[in-house]
Amino acid sequence: MTSTPRWTPDLSVGHKELDGHHQTLFNLLARLDHGLETGQGTGWAQAMGQELTAYADYHFQAEEALLEAADYPFLQFHRASHQAIALRMHALVAQLAGPTLDQAVRDLRDFVADWLAHHIEIEDFEYKPYLDGNA
Ligand SMILES: [Fe+2]
Ligand SMILES: [Fe+2]
Repeated sequence: MTSTPRWTPDLSVGHKELDGHHQTLFNLLARLDHGLETGQGTGWAQAMGQELTAYADYHFQAEEALLEAADYPFLQFHRASHQAIALRMHALVAQLAGPTLDQAVRDLRDFVADWLAHHIEIEDFEYKPYLDGNA
C-alpha cells in the first residue's frame, strides 16, 4: 500500500479554521489506512465511513459559508465540486458491507486520498486571496 498522505504547511489555505478542518480530514484518512492495515471488520468500517462523510459534509458547509461571507465569485463552482465529492463518498460508504468489504474500504481510502490533496491544492487554493485577512 502507498503511504498515507499527510497535511503539510504547503497545503495551508491561509485560514486557521479551514486548515484545521483539512488536518482533521487527513487524520481521518490516516485512521482509515490504519484500519486497513490491521484488518478491521464491517462495524468498524461503517462507523469510520460515517465519521468521514459527516466530517467532510461539515467541512464543505463551513467552507462554503466562509466563502459566501467573503463574496467569493466562484462559489457556485466550488459548491458543485464539493457536491460531486460528497455524492461519491456517500456512495462508497454505502458499499461498506459483505464479502467485498476490504476492497470497498480500499476504494473509499483511495478516493479520499485522491480528492483531499487535489481539491485542496487546486480548488481550495483558488479562494486563498479572497479569504486573506480573515484568518
Ligand atoms: Fe473546498
Ligand atoms: Fe476544503
